[in-house]
This record gives sequence, C-alpha cells and structure tokens, in this order.
Amino acid sequence: MNSITKLHAKPFQDQFGRHKRKLRISITDRCNFKCVYCMPEHPEWMHKHNLLSFEALYAFCKFMVQRGIEQIRITGGEPLMRQGVVHFVQQLKTLKVLGLKRISMTTNGHYLKHYAHALQEAGLDDLNISLDSLDEQQFQQLTQRKLGPVLEGIAEAQKAGLKLKINTVLMQSLNENQIIPLVQWATQEQIELRFIEFMPLDGDQKWTQQEVVSEQYILDSLSRQFEVQRVDGHGTQPARQYRVNGQIIGIISTITHSFCGRCDRLRLNAQGEFYNCLFSLNGLNLKQDIETLSSDPQQVDILLNSKLTSYIWQKEQGFHSLMIKKPQSNVRKISMHMIGG
Ligand code: GTP
Ligand code: 5AD
Ligand code: SF4
Repeated sequence: MNSITKLHAKPFQDQFGRHKRKLRISITDRCNFKCVYCMPEHPEWMHKHNLLSFEALYAFCKFMVQRGIEQIRITGGEPLMRQGVVHFVQQLKTLKVLGLKRISMTTNGHYLKHYAHALQEAGLDDLNISLDSLDEQQFQQLTQRKLGPVLEGIAEAQKAGLKLKINTVLMQSLNENQIIPLVQWATQEQIELRFIEFMPLDGDQKWTQQEVVSEQYILDSLSRQFEVQRVDGHGTQPARQYRVNGQIIGIISTITHSFCGRCDRLRLNAQGEFYNCLFSLNGLNLKQDIETLSSDPQQVDILLNSKLTSYIWQKEQGFHSLMIKKPQSNVRKISMHMIGG
C-alpha cells in the first residue's frame, strides 16, 4: 500500500466520532453585495498580500484529500470576485484521482452569467446560489444590488448543465413573505430550494432570536397552501427535506434543529485560518505551514498533520454548546463573509 492510500483510509475525526469529509475553502472575503444578514456596514477587507495564493490553496486541498476529504466547496465573500477561480477549479479536478468526489461553489450569482459555462467546463460539479427575494425592490433592500443579473446567472447555469441549489435566508419582517412565491418559482424552474434560518453570524452582530423565521413557521406557511410531507434520509446534508406539492424543499434550521450531531465539515478562510466549526471562536493560523506545503511538502507534512489532528479532535459538540459558552458581549472577530458560510 502506498502512503496516499494509507492516509486516505483514515479521515480526520473529532472527539464525538464525527469524520470529516467536506472542506470549505473561502478564497476571498470581498463581496459586491451587502446582505443584511452577512456584511457589516463598514467591512475591513483582508489585505491582498495576506491571502493565500491559489498554488498554496491547491497544495492544502491535495493534502486534505489525501486525508479523507471527499468534497471541496469554494466560498467567499463572493468567490467569483477573485481572478483565477476557474483555473483553480481545473486544478482541483486533478485531485479526483486521489479521492475527491465533488467540487462545489456557493455564490451570490451576480457574475454567474459570464462564468457558468467556463466553470462547468473546468469541472465544477454543483453550485449553490443565494436568492432571498423575487421582488426587485425587496432584493435591492436586502442586498444593495439588482435582482436581474442573479436571475440571468441562474438561467445561464441551468443552460450550462450545472447542478443547482438555491439558498434563501429568511428574516422576520423583511422577506418572510417570499416563502410561497419562491416555492412556486422553484417548482416552475425545477430547482431545489432551501430556506435557511438566520444565524448569529452577521457582520454587525445585530442578530436577535425574534428575527429568525423558524422551520416550524416555514412549514406552517407552506401547509396553509400546499401539501407538505417530510422526506427522511438526508445523510450529512444540512437541510431537512420536505416534499411540497411534488417539489423537494430543504430547510437549514441551525437555530431550531441544528445538524451538528452529524457535522462532517472543516473550513479554511482566505488568509489561512482554519476552523473546526462555523461558530468556533478560535481558528488555527496555518498560513505559513500551508505556504511551505506548496514549496517543500516534506518539511511540513508531519507537523501540519499533527496540528490538524489535535485541533479537529477538540471540535466542540456544536452550535448550541458554543453559544452557551459565548459571552453576551460577543467578541467574535470573524463574520460570515470572512468564513464563507
Ligand atoms: P451542500 O450540503 O454541499 O449542498 O452545501 P451547503 O448547503 O453546506 O453549502 P452552502 O454554502 O450552500 O450553505 C448553505 C447554508 O448552510 C449557509 O447558510 C451556510 O452558512 C450553512 N452551513 C453550511 N455549513 C454549515 C455548518 O457547518 N454549520 C452550520 N450551522 N451551517 C452551515
Ligand atoms: N445566517 C444564515 N445564512 C447566512 N448566509 C450568510 N449569512 C448568513 C446568516 N447570518 C448564507 C448566504 C449564503 C451562504 C454562504 O450563507 O445566504 O447562501
Ligand atoms: Fe458543524 Fe459547527 Fe456547523 Fe454544527 S455549527 S454543523 S458543529 S460547523
């Protein structure tokens, strides 16, 4: 057995026995949108010279695939704002022979019209696109951007044959009136739609429980209009699935039904900080090790492996246990745009 096969057989594991199969790589914190549930009013962007190069990111992805990672999701900020992203997808595709099964991306969709075909050709397997409203004015109010390019991007991605999911973060008194229109639209377009409960990861830390549109609220709204049936067996997917008039609708309900018990995810942000949980207060700074990995893998391989093994092992039970520990005057330095969701 060669060393690659051996490593591949032993994925990272945390103290609760959860194996890590998914890696989310944020390639930039920059975004051309200003979604209310995400961006702070005055974002302080990472300095460009602090970002990991695509070469270094590729070296890290390879290292992780050799340790059991099967799915890589490219995130941001907005990942299509970083030049070279299509080539990065092409590079990741070469990792399929080592065990990588899926290359995905999460995008706001604004630039998708121009990128959809190139991404498909480069080897992207699927794409999640944010769409919080079908009402132009409301969309503008939520994101500070126009709806039109996103709808065009979605249409182009469909034409390119990319597998799509739509993400809708719902907020009370802002866009909870979109539940029915979005389900009707998704049914007509034959696209999988997922509603997401608002999580306390907004840049200005203004989150309140009252603004959360809960899974139960969504189900009650749907049931008044449609026939709704629970679909079992979503595996390690974050969304609980329902059949609504024949169409599959997902709900990602971290606040009321977190999926932490089956969490198989790890994350790296654009400047090389590694997080064992979306809600971790402390990341592990791996920038230097990752940069060395791309120039001299042998020098850092064992050290990086042992740092990761111990940090991942210490992963907490999940969202609720971390929230209890978190002081009220939360000083979490990273918000959603810096970790990529
Ligand atoms: P797939 O399951 O591969 O389709 O991806 P995904 O749904 O995890 O990715 P996406 O980037 O589309 O995220 C959808 C929503 O799920 C976003 O609001 C994310 O912040 C949230 N999410 C993704 N991963 C996690 C996680 O580990 N924990 C929690 N609580 N939420 C997550
Ligand atoms: N709560 C829930 N989901 C969020 N997203 C961004 N911020 C939040 C938040 N505070 C979602 C975006 C995108 C994905 C990466 O994360 O809508 O679809
Ligand atoms: Fe995993 Fe943390 Fe998300 Fe829970 S909150 S699913 S533990 S990353």
